[in-house]
Amino acid sequence: MLLPGIRLATAADALVIADMSREYIEHGLGWSWNTARIAAAIADASTNVAVVDLSSGMVAFGIMHYGEHTAHLALLAVHPRHRNRGIAARLVTWLEKSADTAGIERIRVEARSDNPAALAFYRKQGYQQTGRLANYYRGVLDAVRLEKTLRVAVRESPQ
Ligand SMILES: CC(C)(COP(=O)(O)OP(=O)(O)OC[C@H]1O[C@@H](n2cnc3c(N)ncnc32)[C@H](O)[C@@H]1OP(=O)(O)O)[C@@H](O)C(=O)NCCC(=O)NCCS
Repeated sequence: MLLPGIRLATAADALVIADMSREYIEHGLGWSWNTARIAAAIADASTNVAVVDLSSGMVAFGIMHYGEHTAHLALLAVHPRHRNRGIAARLVTWLEKSADTAGIERIRVEARSDNPAALAFYRKQGYQQTGRLANYYRGVLDAVRLEKTLRVAVRESPQ
């Protein structure tokens, strides 16, 4: 397969990303990642919104927020016609690289408990389950929390 082109999203991508989020991630739960929220993430200096373009247009996106010690993978989706070709794996690796460069220690992600494909995907990428959050999504659906450790924290103890 041709290597997909990964780039940072611009404001013009917000509508397509929000539509993909509603259809492929938030289905059955309402629409919290609407166009305005995606646009705010694109504009946020502590967040990378990365997209994958193929000749047919945008086929995947991932959103990662970078904190001081922890990064949070907030959203990830690949268009159904383009799944199982390694696109999400490349996208997550790309987002993780920025976290690693920034010295971040771990990446955290939540997945719907009714989404075995996402759970299998994250485990394959080296994420380990750290807990289950009851009624995390809209008070009706549990989340599974997973984490990947990038480096072990070395902090000075107070004198
Ligand atoms: C989860 C998702 C992002 C995976 O995207 P993808 O591009 O198809 O994933 P990849 O091709 O990079 O898969 C990498 C590995 O993950 C695992 N994996 C991916 N999809 C899987 C599935 N449906 N079932 C089991 N394992 C799966 C496989 O081990 C795969 O490795 P392999 O190719 O050697 O078999 C995609 O299915 C998707 O967009 N789902 C809907 C949205 C969603 O659930 N997002 C995640 C939660 S926010």
